[in-house]
Amino acid sequence: MFDHLPVLPPDSILGLAAACRADTNPDKVDLTIGIYMDEAGICPVFEAVKRAQIALIEEETTKSYIPPQGDQAFIDGMLALVLGEERLAARSHAIAAVQAPGGCGAVRLGAEVLKASGPTGKVWVSDPTWPVHIPLIGSVGLELTQYRYYDPATHGVNFEAMVDDLKGATEGDIVLFHGCCHNPSGADLSPEQWQVMAQMASAQGFTPMIDLAYQGFGDGLEQDVYGLRLLVDQVPEVVIAASCSKNMGLYRERTGLAIYVTKDARAAEATASQAKSAARRIYSMPPAHGAIIAGRILSDADLRTHWQAELSAMCERINTLRTEFRDCLHAATGRDFGFIANEKGMFSFLGLTKEQAQQVRVERGLYMLDSSRINIASLNAANLDKVVSAVASVL
Ligand code: LMR
Repeated sequence: MFDHLPVLPPDSILGLAAACRADTNPDKVDLTIGIYMDEAGICPVFEAVKRAQIALIEEETTKSYIPPQGDQAFIDGMLALVLGEERLAARSHAIAAVQAPGGCGAVRLGAEVLKASGPTGKVWVSDPTWPVHIPLIGSVGLELTQYRYYDPATHGVNFEAMVDDLKGATEGDIVLFHGCCHNPSGADLSPEQWQVMAQMASAQGFTPMIDLAYQGFGDGLEQDVYGLRLLVDQVPEVVIAASCSKNMGLYRERTGLAIYVTKDARAAEATASQAKSAARRIYSMPPAHGAIIAGRILSDADLRTHWQAELSAMCERINTLRTEFRDCLHAATGRDFGFIANEKGMFSFLGLTKEQAQQVRVERGLYMLDSSRINIASLNAANLDKVVSAVASVL
């Protein structure tokens, strides 16, 4: 049965992280996968998560399935977090939400329902985008196309080109946006640019889909959903894939939510039924642990305050690392790395060629993606000099 199966090449992100783990170089540095690491190089468990988890263990009376749409406290808390209380209250009759295994699962459930609606057009994704978007959305049977987004020459968004390309997106098309902290570039749209996107979506009739994997890692929980909320306000139908992997550190618990903002209660009921049916045929029931923890954190004032403080501290640390790294790279190379401090979230393209990225990997044990995307949150006092010296050695 399996004799003829080809061995597939490793995943472009997970494969490099595995290669780094296997590397025996004592000076190796892993800047590959997008996981928040603290100063000690550990992906920490939030204190708020620990507390919610301890309470859950004490109180839990069953391991029976949770409902197919997910944990209600989680759904309510996430909808308010993403959309804002007032908007949610005004539109709740037309909004459906189904819990999903992580942000990835939410993107998939979003794409499944979009496919079921029989769109006549394509899904537009940014060039570049998170590589997993392509198989996640494409394997549902939706056709993909790219819009220009990141300009390596300016290390920023090529907004003119983005607008030019998206002029071609019409009714029946879906445009995938990164809600904040663009992965892989770290280059985000400004509020004015989001306004243009909302106007275009509303005038041209395309449907926005928003991958919200990093709420709270950019400028703050509220600021990071500025564009998303604008689209929800100005466009009749929006699909959102929200994740708690990063902002609650619930990576392995696979905690996400697919949100469908629709035109009316009937459409909301239909999208929910379609999403639950898609989930049933793919993996059947949602995982409970992470969602119950997140639901507790969002609904308990004390836990929520604690969580927000921890999240802000992580965000501040990343921003401090960005300025330190910018300064050290400038001192070592004489080049301008100012863009690193202007970007948002975990990622940045250093602007190295594939050959240079491979060279620092082989010669210095510095692991970044072939595209030269690095995870800023993996930098720390112990590895900063090594990283700077390795990058300078190939420039
Ligand atoms: C990343 O881009 O590194 C993260 O989103 C983790 C992943 O699954 O790829």
